[in-house]
Amino acid sequence: MSPARGSLAVAAVLAAGFVFGQVSSKPPEPKPFTPGEPVEQPIPFSHKTHMGVGLKCLDCHAIKAPGDFAGFPAETRCMACHAAVKKDSPHIRKVAEARKSGTAIAWKRVYEVKEFVYFSHEVHHRKAGVDCGVCHGKVAERDVLFQEKPLDMYSCMKCHEQYKASNDCQLCHDAQ
Ligand code: HEC
Ligand code: HEC
Ligand code: HEC
Ligand code: HEC
Ligand code: HEC
Repeated sequence: MSPARGSLAVAAVLAAGFVFGQVSSKPPEPKPFTPGEPVEQPIPFSHKTHMGVGLKCLDCHAIKAPGDFAGFPAETRCMACHAAVKKDSPHIRKVAEARKSGTAIAWKRVYEVKEFVYFSHEVHHRKAGVDCGVCHGKVAERDVLFQEKPLDMYSCMKCHEQYKASNDCQLCHDAQ
């Protein structure tokens, strides 16, 4: 299904649900979760190596205002170390070229919600204090990331129920 049709379908379900009062705010049935395959990146970046040198998650994923996204680090941040560290590595040469040309490295996404779902890192991490690992697993131990936690509608709603956060459809979907 194309993204545009996906949002239309959700809007239609939401509208029908509100009109006929059939939409409950109970979580849907749990879906079985299978962890994803390791995601091969354009540059073999290891979280394990970089957490090992004393960096913090927010050093690279700054959650800049308005904070929907955690964000990816700019290549200048990488080169602060790599101007000296492993500068002759072919991988680091690619990072240096990306910085020079101003073209951001095209990291492949590991976690991504559909465009009709609203999510905020600012609210979950800074305001509610949920640790990154609850939603992304043991990142600091990984050389290569893969989806290790489910982020489907059931998982979102189950946690909202536990935290007594709202499960109104419009919290996560725009019913326009
Ligand atoms: C605080 C310093 C620091 C920062 C910032 C940093 N790195 Fe590193 N990086 C290291 C160290 C230390 C190593 C391990 C070097 C070794 O194996 O001797 C490393 C290793 C690597 C390697 C493996 C190189 C090879 O050929 O073995 C890659 C690729 C890499 N970093 C990419 C990045 C990218 C991309 C960024 C930015 C998102 C980044 N690094 C930011 C310190 C840093
Ligand atoms: C040195 C910078 C650096 C640090 C420190 C760092 N990351 Fe990352 N992170 C990256 C880069 C570069 C990528 C893209 C490559 C990849 O997916 O491995 C990434 C990707 C991710 C992704 C996948 C995003 C997606 O959906 O595509 C998650 C989740 C993540 N990091 C979480 C964390 C957490 C949690 C920590 C702390 C434990 C952390 N990162 C520390 C640089 C960093
Ligand atoms: C409550 C669950 C939750 C928590 C806590 C959380 N994330 Fe995420 N993260 C998500 C979801 C959902 C997505 C996909 C969002 C999207 O597609 O817009 C995501 C996407 C990402 C991405 C890639 C896209 C982006 O937003 O830039 C990175 C990087 C990331 N998270 C890092 C982190 C880090 C670092 C922390 C801790 C500081 C963290 N996340 C805490 C659920 C969470
Ligand atoms: C680990 C528990 C947890 C998970 C998993 C989780 N949430 Fe939340 N979420 C919360 C809590 C707690 C709040 C209330 C935060 C507050 O207002 O202090 C919240 C609030 C929200 C809000 C309101 C934001 C605002 O602007 O006030 C939205 C939207 C939301 N979550 C979407 C999602 C989506 C979409 C997912 C799944 C991809 C998800 N959440 C997964 C705990 C969670
Ligand atoms: C806490 C956040 C959250 C709340 C509250 C929420 N949803 Fe969702 N919804 C999601 C997420 C995340 C997805 C995407 C699921 C996926 O990608 O597997 C989704 C997907 C959907 C879809 C698309 C079909 C599908 O399964 O992918 C429909 C329709 C939908 N939601 C309707 C609703 C209705 C009706 C309500 C109110 C009862 C509601 N949602 C409440 C997060 C939420």
